[in-house]
Amino acid sequence: MKHFITTADYSQSELQTMLDMADEFKQGATSEALKNKSVALLFFNPSLRTRTSFELGTWQMGGHAVVLEPGKSAWPLSFEFGEKMDGVAEEHVIEAAKVLSRFCDLICIRAFPKFENWQDDRKDKVIKAFAQYSTVPVINMETITHPCQELAHMQAISQHIGKPQKKKYVLTWSYHPKPLNTAVANSSLLIATKFGMDVTLLCPNERFLLDDRYMGLAKQNAEQNGGSFNYTHDIDEAYEGAEIIYAKSWGALPYFGKWDEEKIIRDQYQHFMVDEQKMAKTNNGKFSHCLPMRRNMIASDGVMDSNYCIAIDEAENRLHVQKAIMTQLINQ
Ligand code: CP
Repeated sequence: MKHFITTADYSQSELQTMLDMADEFKQGATSEALKNKSVALLFFNPSLRTRTSFELGTWQMGGHAVVLEPGKSAWPLSFEFGEKMDGVAEEHVIEAAKVLSRFCDLICIRAFPKFENWQDDRKDKVIKAFAQYSTVPVINMETITHPCQELAHMQAISQHIGKPQKKKYVLTWSYHPKPLNTAVANSSLLIATKFGMDVTLLCPNERFLLDDRYMGLAKQNAEQNGGSFNYTHDIDEAYEGAEIIYAKSWGALPYFGKWDEEKIIRDQYQHFMVDEQKMAKTNNGKFSHCLPMRRNMIASDGVMDSNYCIAIDEAENRLHVQKAIMTQLINQ
């Protein structure tokens, strides 16, 4: 039984099959792939797009979604093994995953890092525990990667610039007042290199590079799929000739848990915001962001309101790609 936890577990052609199905859904195809099926959506963190698109996608394919918020509307869970459960958790993931598997045909998890210790957070314990003890497929709704967003992003890229291979793609760090998850940034590198794009990571300095695991996978993907991967701290060099600019803010990993120290550094790079002047250096480039996004912090009003901004298309695509992912997993 295959889960959908990271696109690293899937070949380019397997992902392309999902994207082709997502295109059919986007063009109006209907499906009853989830008729009489149920989907558990576990949110440990807030959401607008993910929750709406999974609930509606399940309903549109004849199924029923149950939304649970552990620690709020559902019991707080423990993910420690062998411990005496004398803290706030009322239930262990072992029982929760097994019970939900008796009720539901798919289990979807959103569980962000705790932002205290990256060496611990990078183990992705919550979704891995669900995958271990569930007897139905598990889908990642964002943990330390965001694979559903990856497919929605690639569907939008293909829609707007055609075949992605060898097109210049830039993932740019951008400023946010708080340190954010690296999940979408990791995912951006994974999917753009998986589809053979010439990928540049633009970030303020070495401290904002991403985890070696994802930098390494990006390099490996680029070698396997005919693209390239490099990084720079030079804004002009990165934007020059780019066809896709994807913006995201994230906290610097060496300062994980020491966020007051990190903020002093991060605040020096507010000029990384994507604006019309920077976009003018691109090759008629398209701009996108996963959303939610703070205007005039990450990207200017001018960029967000431009005809080259494809962020709303990407958000819409969440619905289509997730219907394709759920169909693939339920039919395996
Ligand atoms: N992009 C994304 O996952 O949006 P939400 O956090 O609103 O679900």
